[in-house]
Amino acid sequence: MKISLSTASVTRVKTDLLVVGVSSTDVASTPVLSELDAALGAGRLAKLFADERFDAKPGSALCVPAGSEVGAQWVLFVGIEPESASALRTARMLGVHAARAAKARKTAALVLAGAEAASVRAAAEGLVTGAYQNDAHKSGRNRRPAALGRATLVVDKATAALRRAVSDGVAIAESIEVVRDLVNGPPNVVTPDHLAKAARSHARKHGVRCTVWDQKKLEAAGMELFLAVNKGSAVEPRMIHLVYKPTDPKPTKKVVFVGKGITFDSGGLCIKPGPSMTTMKCDMAGAATTLGIVLAAARLRLPVEVHGLLGSAENMTGAAAYRPGDVYTSREGKTVEIINTDAEGRLVLADVLSYAKDQKPDYLIDHATLTGACLVALGPYRAGMMSNDDELADAYQAAASLEGERYWRLPLDDDLRKQLESSTADIKHVGTRLGGTITAALFLREFIGDAKWLHLDIAGPAFLEEANGPYPKGGTGFGVATALRFLEGLA
Ligand code: BES
Ligand code: MN
Ligand code: ZN
Repeated sequence: MKISLSTASVTRVKTDLLVVGVSSTDVASTPVLSELDAALGAGRLAKLFADERFDAKPGSALCVPAGSEVGAQWVLFVGIEPESASALRTARMLGVHAARAAKARKTAALVLAGAEAASVRAAAEGLVTGAYQNDAHKSGRNRRPAALGRATLVVDKATAALRRAVSDGVAIAESIEVVRDLVNGPPNVVTPDHLAKAARSHARKHGVRCTVWDQKKLEAAGMELFLAVNKGSAVEPRMIHLVYKPTDPKPTKKVVFVGKGITFDSGGLCIKPGPSMTTMKCDMAGAATTLGIVLAAARLRLPVEVHGLLGSAENMTGAAAYRPGDVYTSREGKTVEIINTDAEGRLVLADVLSYAKDQKPDYLIDHATLTGACLVALGPYRAGMMSNDDELADAYQAAASLEGERYWRLPLDDDLRKQLESSTADIKHVGTRLGGTITAALFLREFIGDAKWLHLDIAGPAFLEEANGPYPKGGTGFGVATALRFLEGLA
């Protein structure tokens, strides 16, 4: 999609679909509505809104043919939150609405009068992500033709800052698309090796260094927990290390992101019941998100050193599969008693986090579809956040609320740690059902040394059964926008 800026008036801009966000149906007191109303024939808008019961509330939309009175063929009115709410979230939603309403239309224009660069960026991001179609695995004639080849953002002044905002928005959106495609990809295709190859080819395009560890190298590094998870699989595991390091100016901060990359989670010998297994191709979403974040940071040339460590394995039931009762030695040296083979993510993450903290990051941040308990606690639209550092957690929450992504911090209560005591090994990896999201995090905490650490349990929002807000059904790319905003705050 080609996105350009225009300073034409709303009545003159030539387009198939003009998109106007309104928080009120009061034509007289809403300048953009009065302007359109004057062109369409005074009084027509008020009647249209009343006839169609359009109330300008968020979620409502009304598409009307405009004909010859204005430059646009159709006008789409989208209900938005009043100005006090997040401008950025509103701009993104306008872009998403425009792309979704496009149908066979080739061009659209978004009215962004008075918008700042941040909103212009979000609108561009919304246009591109809103047009996303999960068609990669449909055969020829079932692939929908792409709508919206071109879009225009109608702004007050086409400055260099706004042009940069557009290209940044597109870069973020395309990174989110990488995440969605990998998460939506079928698990017979998206294996650990496939993930590594995809990461390498994207990295190459954007000046990101990529090193891939195979089974042998993981063995040499003593990552027995990581390897245990993959033992029942017919394919090899991979660890993928991405590095984006700007040269000029020299970065002062280094952030290491870690992602859970289970390309399919059958549960292992503690096998999942069928209905819980159907969506388990999504269990590599943390790794895909991590890749998306590093790619976007590189494309925006952020003045921060950013690493991505993707731990990728497949949790299967082959003859060599790991069992409850097994004991393995972690990279850290701690021995771990296996309780439930379906709690595989924390085992992979433990060894990867241990390596990650040795990179001496200022901040260590992991994304993982880690626990069903997090979905029970927070529902599907909000991620769990756990941290050993209040300042880091607060800064991340601030970035998230700007972007309109939702996280909720859960406490790392120390007395829950006793659930992890083992009579056989140093520690066991699963506690009771009570506080399951927190005890998973407490297990991870054993492997991060004294790093300032943020753990994001994205089991809910990484993959949706139905579209919600700006997110489509399936892989969402949740978390990329917040991470980028957080990294920009460090610069
Ligand atoms: N990948 C799952 C968690 C999950 C569940 C992600 C639903 C997305 C949607 C994870 O590996 C898992 O199976 N966790 C177990 C842990 C339990 C055995 C302690 C769970 O949540 O049931
Ligand atoms: Mn599992
Ligand atoms: Zn899992």
